Amino acid sequence: MINAILFDMDGVLCDSEEVSISVGVNYFKSKNVNITHDDFLPHLGGGERKFFEGPSRAKGYHLDYDDASNYFKNHYEELLNKTKPALPGIDIVKRARKAGVKTALCSSAPRWKVLVNIKAIGLSEDDFDAVFSGESVKRNKPEPDIYLNAAINLGIDPSECLVVEDSLFGVRAGKKANMRVLAVTGTESFDKLASQGADVIVSDLGAVGSFNSPEELDKIISQDSTSNADGILYGANYIVPLKRRMSDSFVEKKMEEAASYARDHAYAPYSKFKVGAAVLSAATGRIYSGCNVENSSYGATICAERNAILHAIAEEGIIGIDTLLVYSDDDPPAPPCANCLQVLAEFAKKDTKIILVSVNGERREMLFSDLLPNPFIFPSVRK
Ligand code: THU
Repeated sequence: MINAILFDMDGVLCDSEEVSISVGVNYFKSKNVNITHDDFLPHLGGGERKFFEGPSRAKGYHLDYDDASNYFKNHYEELLNKTKPALPGIDIVKRARKAGVKTALCSSAPRWKVLVNIKAIGLSEDDFDAVFSGESVKRNKPEPDIYLNAAINLGIDPSECLVVEDSLFGVRAGKKANMRVLAVTGTESFDKLASQGADVIVSDLGAVGSFNSPEELDKIISQDSTSNADGILYGANYIVPLKRRMSDSFVEKKMEEAASYARDHAYAPYSKFKVGAAVLSAATGRIYSGCNVENSSYGATICAERNAILHAIAEEGIIGIDTLLVYSDDDPPAPPCANCLQVLAEFAKKDTKIILVSVNGERREMLFSDLLPNPFIFPSVRK
């Protein structure tokens, strides 16, 4: 049963993250310091101090926090009111109450900002059973304190609270409080939110169906788990696959070209067995190649397949592997070795396509599960 919804504010109810970042960028500009939009992203959701100190530290700038905080207070409201900051679906705040579900606002932002935001989205403090701001706790998100406080204040057990969040700090705070977490994408991607343990991920709050009681809300949340939302499990990670516009045959031809080119660069003076590989990233449709690189200490050799996977991760971060192609001079064409299969297992799904091609044109096609039917995935990340 879900008897309370604990809402984060920025990026959940109020579309203010971009406004905050603009004010932040302008503040540093006024100090002749070049801190850009993206420099702020890893520091969202943990309160104003982290928001300013995170990028300052990363750039080696000595921050006067009080000065930054004053600047923010003087410029934020004006910029916010130039936008329409109410996010879709925020009528859930009022709908929840009607359905007998308590509501609290739990924002790491300072109280003045919380009040400005509530007003800007057309709600009032009275629309919530309780309102908590960054000052209400010593330890901000990702620590669970603000959510645990809210649960105690509302008299609801944490297991009956649903946290609504958009940031990674926030999702972690909710999970540490032993609450269920509904995450909205926008600030962060589906797979990043899932990697922090979000129970349900939606594009916006408008996607949460109607409910007339705590039981009905529970049903919606329990059914709509990350496993059947847009993301698909690739090994240990959820990835939202790209809807491909190119035909398989075209993409596979490109992969073969990339693997063959990489094979020409193989460093195999010991075995003389040159291998090229290409992986297709599920999320972006991009192709990454690799070749085998041997070593005087034979065990330090890296196979073409792992090289291609590492190349993809260096470019994109966590990947989902749609297809792997291996190109070698072998008959039948060589499959990935057991080491590579284990690395593949972390990023592949059962039906990831494995294509084996030999230089004489022979081609075999199989599924990842044909080669490794029972992959090991570490228990704590297994979904
Ligand atoms: N090798 C690969 O790159 N991929 C495979 O699928 C099989 C083996 C490489 C590693 C080493 O450089 C050479 O082939 C002989 O084992």
